[in-house]
Amino acid sequence: MGYISEKTEQDIINRYSPERYEHVKNVIELAMHLAEKHSADSEKAYTAALLHDIAKDMKVKDMVAMLESADIFIDEEYHTSNILHGPCAAVIAYEDYDIDDEEILYAIYYHTFGRAAMSKMEKIIFIADAAEKGRTYQNVGRIRKLMYKDLDAAVELSLSGTITHVISKGEVLFPATASALEYIREQRIK
Ligand SMILES: [Fe+2]
Ligand SMILES: [Fe+2]
Repeated sequence: MGYISEKTEQDIINRYSPERYEHVKNVIELAMHLAEKHSADSEKAYTAALLHDIAKDMKVKDMVAMLESADIFIDEEYHTSNILHGPCAAVIAYEDYDIDDEEILYAIYYHTFGRAAMSKMEKIIFIADAAEKGRTYQNVGRIRKLMYKDLDAAVELSLSGTITHVISKGEVLFPATASALEYIREQRIK
């Protein structure tokens, strides 16, 4: 048990700005509730939530360099902070904090854009990030209503909201997000 010591946890917290840490605390809180409700490992959920945005304030060029040195190559058209900060946070979790649990690393890596066949832990962190109590966008109430009784329905709603939001803002949509939505819709029809 125990993916990180208390001292390490304090080091991680110190790397966040106070505002960012507020969000992280909210994500931890919701991730723990979701893990309990959906019978997932709450310690893994805690660790993934704690680290999920650790790369968010890095410069894009530093993110690209960090990913390349970890042999992770993402096409140049997707070199945005929004897309790269999850993968970078997974690299930091692995390299700086010795997290080698795949469930935790994947949940961190995919927390913004998702992918087809997400694990339960990935869904929990994805929804905890999207629906923590500080979020105020239009559909968040519907996601909160769904997330305890039907995690997949909440993920589906959140993914389609992400796609609409990205397209309406003229941002680049990472293809994994579209695959994630397509996959979860197929699963839910079956
Ligand atoms: Fe994030
Ligand atoms: Fe976040």
